[in-house]
Amino acid sequence: MPFSLPMNDQQAEQLAAEINANGFARLRNVISQSELQQLRGFTDAHAQLHHGEYFAYHGEKALSQSLLGSIWGNPDFKQLVGALYRQATHQESASDRIFPVLRCVQGNVGQKESNCFHFDASLVTALVPIFIPTEGSDRGDLMVFPNLRKVRNSVLLNVIEKALVQNRFTRKLMTLAIDRGWLKPQTIPLVPGDIYLFWGYRSLHANKACGAGVKRATAIFHFGDPHAGSLATRLILQFNQRRARRVSDKTGAQPPKSTLGQ
Ligand SMILES: [Fe+2]
Repeated sequence: MPFSLPMNDQQAEQLAAEINANGFARLRNVISQSELQQLRGFTDAHAQLHHGEYFAYHGEKALSQSLLGSIWGNPDFKQLVGALYRQATHQESASDRIFPVLRCVQGNVGQKESNCFHFDASLVTALVPIFIPTEGSDRGDLMVFPNLRKVRNSVLLNVIEKALVQNRFTRKLMTLAIDRGWLKPQTIPLVPGDIYLFWGYRSLHANKACGAGVKRATAIFHFGDPHAGSLATRLILQFNQRRARRVSDKTGAQPPKSTLGQ
């Protein structure tokens, strides 16, 4: 993808400051209309394979046939996420791997996969909207409680925090509290063509449910695992891999086998 992005350290510093202050940074008009059309064509073809139900593809292999490869392979993009990681941690990331995910929320399973608040395993999250519903009140908006926690020194603390939040009971409670207005997450309206950057590891986030019959598709790029190589990280990856397989089994077509990253 022939886009150019801010990539020197000073520009990355500004973006990092924006994410710290506002919860996210938005890069406008990065993906062209024709590129969006290609991404939508790929997503549509796979949405049909899944009979209009939720699916998520994780990893480079699963997405190698899509245009997303030219995003995670873009040297500017690599440099940008690397610089953001450096800005946030004052360290180099242990790995330069960018882990892509394509997520399509639709149908009944899509309802269940919504409101699933979580912290990402990796620090830098870049979100590329592909299909965003524009009609009605249930548009699958991105909800974020930004920068709730710091990067933890302790892997164990990270795992405990994730376990406390990422379970059925807490999610139901949070959904109820948001519905009643007791909790007010930041809602980020997503515009296809733009890229949204936030600290996925530090920010509790989820998408709202979508109305029946609408499709919400986003590509997500994960970069920089602060606990890379730890046993806990490996166990989380295995857990997510099994979970994604279970969901895909329910919705029909099988994604190509891959490793998972969140
Ligand atoms: Fe996430």
